[in-house]
Parts: sequence; structure tokens; C-alpha cells
Amino acid sequence: MADWDVLMTGPSLPIVADRLAAATTLHRLWEEKDPEAALQRLAERVRVVVATGHSSRMDAAFLSRFPNLQLVASFGVGYDHIDASWAGANGLIVTHTPGVLDAEVADTALALTLAAVRKLPQAERYLREGRWLQAPYPLTASLRGRTMGILGLGRIGREIAKRATAFGLEIVYHGRKAQDDAPYLYYPTLKGMAEACDILVVVAPGGAATRHIVNAEILGALGSNGVLINVARGTLVDEAALIEALKSNTILAAGLDVFEKEPEVPAELLQLDNVVLLPHVGSASLPTRLAMANLVVDNALSWIAGRGPLTPVPETPWKAVG
Ligand code: 8YV
Repeated sequence: MADWDVLMTGPSLPIVADRLAAATTLHRLWEEKDPEAALQRLAERVRVVVATGHSSRMDAAFLSRFPNLQLVASFGVGYDHIDASWAGANGLIVTHTPGVLDAEVADTALALTLAAVRKLPQAERYLREGRWLQAPYPLTASLRGRTMGILGLGRIGREIAKRATAFGLEIVYHGRKAQDDAPYLYYPTLKGMAEACDILVVVAPGGAATRHIVNAEILGALGSNGVLINVARGTLVDEAALIEALKSNTILAAGLDVFEKEPEVPAELLQLDNVVLLPHVGSASLPTRLAMANLVVDNALSWIAGRGPLTPVPETPWKAVG
């Protein structure tokens, strides 16, 4: 295995580099003084690239620099930062880390929903500012009697639905198609679902096909009691339209873990009191991130050992030969 050159583009949990370095010839691009020169020097040799998260963009121009590249092992379940269609058309395998983070992200989605509806972070700030001594915190909206519309009933969406059901919420969903085994009402259009629900949870993949699908029209349909929760990618929501909808009380509140240009967050959002903001921490507990890190390495090492990828993305399916 030591004759396999593996390129890591950015830092990750130490266990990733430690395990890879023990079994392969590992190159750490971010430690190179001149990354461009390093890429040129290594291009021919690299057979596996480890992508360390949604911020390391891997388009066709980048991937085609490595003539002997076979596998891209990406950290995270979302892989909109990688041109997986190009990879599939060019005989590469892309792997991601589904499954191991579903419960963690679903927990975060529920926490964000409760925080946004009951204004819990705002109430905590109120206490810390000593204002409770003057008056109790104002009454808030409630979760009671609400319908949650899930945009993207995948693995994480289903975990969110399970939790929300336990909280007494009605669940409906929208996606590309109805799922026969899902016990929830399906809406064939996002607008139809937005009209029918008052919590809209965004948990669908990012990328060109879903860019800005939550726009001014959808927010209008969600309505003045509506709450938008986004734990997917910032690109699915038209952020300017959302800011406008929050300012004009077109919707009640929002809870956001992701942003269009993160880690930059628009100053206008920071000033609004009806939005709860998190720094993309959906999966960011130590145990879950360790499980994700190990799955990245397990995919790379399984490939190198000739056993195929463990969790390839649908655009690059794996068929064992023989
Ligand atoms: C990670 C995520 O924060 O899995 C995903 O798609 O967005 C997160 O779990 C991210 O991949 C790390 O950059």
C-alpha cells in the first residue's frame, strides 16, 4: 500500500492523516509552501485524493489534473463541491460519508426548530444582559399544533421526521418523487407543501439543480406563522429573499446552520432578532466527526486493498469485476 500516493487537500481530524500515513505515501497539500508547485510535482503519482469538506471545491478542471486518479474520498454526506457527474463519466469513484451523521444532524435540526420557535437563544441573551430583573421574557410562538414540511426525505430527513413526530408534529414532505414506504403525505410541488406547512425544513442536496429553490414565492407561501429551518446547504435558499421575508414578517422566524457564502454571514442577518444562527455545526460532535473521519479512511483503504469503495455516491456506482 505504501506505493499508493494519496493527496489530502486540507486538514481534517488527526486520525485521517495518521491512518493514511501509516498505510500509504501521504501528501498534505495545505502544508506545502507552494501548493501549485506541489500539485504539478505530484499530479502523475496521485491515485487517491481525500477531500476534507464542502469548502474544498473539486471541479472537472481540478480533477483532470491527475491522469492516474482513481478515487476521491470526501468528508461529509453532501458532495456538491465535487463534480461527481464528471467523475462518473471519466471512470473515477467518489465516496462520501452517509449514515454515520444522520442522527446528529437530525438532533441539530430539532434543536434549531425549538430554538427558533421558542426564541431560546434570545431568551438566554436576555437573562445574561440582566434584563430578567426588570421583566419576564416576552411570550413566544409555540411548536404545538404545527405541521413540519420536509424538503428532502432522505436518511437525515427521515430521522428528523421521527423526532418531530415524537414532538407531536404532523409531517409532510416534498422531493423529486413520492416514497412508497414513507408514512407521510407527499406534496408534488414545493409551493404546495409550503402552503400546507408552517415549519419548512430544508435537508435536500445542494448544487445547481436546487439552487435558490426556496425563494420569495415559497417564503410567501409559508406565511406569517412560518418558520424556515436550513441544515442542508446555503445555496438552496435565496438569502436576500429570506432577509427580506424576515424583516417584513412575511415569515415568523428562521433557524440556519448553513449560508450561501459561509463562513461569511450577511450583516443584516446578524442584526435580526427573529433568526437563530449556527456556524455549520449540524454534524459537529466529536463522536460523529470521528465516525465520518474513519469512514473517509475506510473508503480509501478498501479501494487501495482492491475491495472496492464502501460508500460511493450514486453518480459513480461501483461494480465489482468477476
Ligand atoms: C460537514 C456537512 O460539516 O456532511 C455534510 O454534508 O455539511 C457536514 O457534515 C462538512 O462536510 C465538513 O466540511
